Amino acid sequence: MARADAAPRTAATVWAEVGGRRYPIHLGSGLLGGLGALWAERAAGEGVLLAYDRGVTPLAERASASLESSGFRVVPAPVPAGEGSKSLAQLERLTRQAAAAGLRRADAVVAVGGGVIGDLAGFVAATYQRGVRLAHVPTTLLAMVDSSVGGKTGVDLPEGKNYVGAIWQPELVVMDTAALDTLPQAELATGFAEVVKYGLLEGGELLALVEAWPELPGPEEALVDLIRRCVAHKLAVVAEDERDLGRRAVLNLGHTVGHGIEAAGGYRRHRHGEAVALGLLAALRVSVAHAGLDERWRERTRVVLARHGLPVRLDAPPATAAIMEAIERDKKADGRALNMVLLPSPGEPVIRTDPSRELVAAAIEELRR
Ligand SMILES: NC(=O)c1ccc[n+]([C@@H]2O[C@H](COP(=O)([O-])OP(=O)(O)OC[C@H]3O[C@@H](n4cnc5c(N)ncnc54)[C@H](O)[C@@H]3O)[C@@H](O)[C@H]2O)c1
Ligand SMILES: [Zn+2]
Repeated sequence: MARADAAPRTAATVWAEVGGRRYPIHLGSGLLGGLGALWAERAAGEGVLLAYDRGVTPLAERASASLESSGFRVVPAPVPAGEGSKSLAQLERLTRQAAAAGLRRADAVVAVGGGVIGDLAGFVAATYQRGVRLAHVPTTLLAMVDSSVGGKTGVDLPEGKNYVGAIWQPELVVMDTAALDTLPQAELATGFAEVVKYGLLEGGELLALVEAWPELPGPEEALVDLIRRCVAHKLAVVAEDERDLGRRAVLNLGHTVGHGIEAAGGYRRHRHGEAVALGLLAALRVSVAHAGLDERWRERTRVVLARHGLPVRLDAPPATAAIMEAIERDKKADGRALNMVLLPSPGEPVIRTDPSRELVAAAIEELRR
């Protein structure tokens, strides 16, 4: 499909400055057709390994046509949809495909898909010939507001999620909100859970926007603005702590219990954002009990999450004990204490190591009422 796309309707550019490097993140509706021209400004070589999720083949074909029309040699690398593709097997397959196609150090990887493809292809870029250039073209709301920003890449092991990886910043990120037109409602909602997280972390206008958000995805121009604000928030945190040794942990608001719920359910019961929705409510409960948060914020957050179809109740397994076990396993693997991001008030997250097991367990139990 080699047709040129219509000109973008709404657009914004955020410049990321991370780890001594600077690169543009373009946001707008209808940007995909301009990918080749944008990459031409950032590329060093003409080869591109186009790693894409099979579920977004039409988008990948448009990305490919655009890159080719700008003179790039595209090596298409479709990857099956699903978390199972974040594997060493896919890493091996893609790197060997790149080698067989003769891709060199100056060439690049372009990732088209959600967080699964971004993490996998990003890790391919980080490791192939000790590192090649990377462009992210996120196609899920979660990938736009979260996984394509900040440079974390990697794959899963049977022993644990994201157990092998690297920090590898892209050279370019192109977020075409028109790609979200085909994203199922439940996937939009899972991304929105992260948006709610940013609203709570930042407070103020962003939180007000989040609370008033209409049915997803929402009006185009407002959506571009919403994503831009989330991206800017994440970038500001990451710029301070790229390697995740301190402040970056605030981005884990809702993720201590969220990861516990995901892991205890074998990653099958809840999508990531669904577990994060429940995790946010648990973190806010602990914040009320332990950090002086006004109870009303928890209630208001519950209303927003529920309005977008995210779970606000845990009415089945996993059992609380299993969730607590998963949380402790996480912490051990991490080498950190049972730390948790609490929110004394919106916009003022703090990292605390002292909430007791009992308090956290009670906050999970409350989700069942
Ligand atoms: N690197 C990071 O900082 C970071 C942050 C958060 C999450 N992650 C990772 O991201 C992954 C989750 O990402 P995700 O939620 O995007 O899931 P995903 O990549 O699995 O995509 C979800 C589903 O949507 C489909 N899809 C994608 N784009 C579509 C579109 N435009 N239209 C129709 N269908 C589409 C996919 O085929 C898939 O079935 C996890 O592996 C998680 O660990 C990474
Ligand atoms: Zn998350």
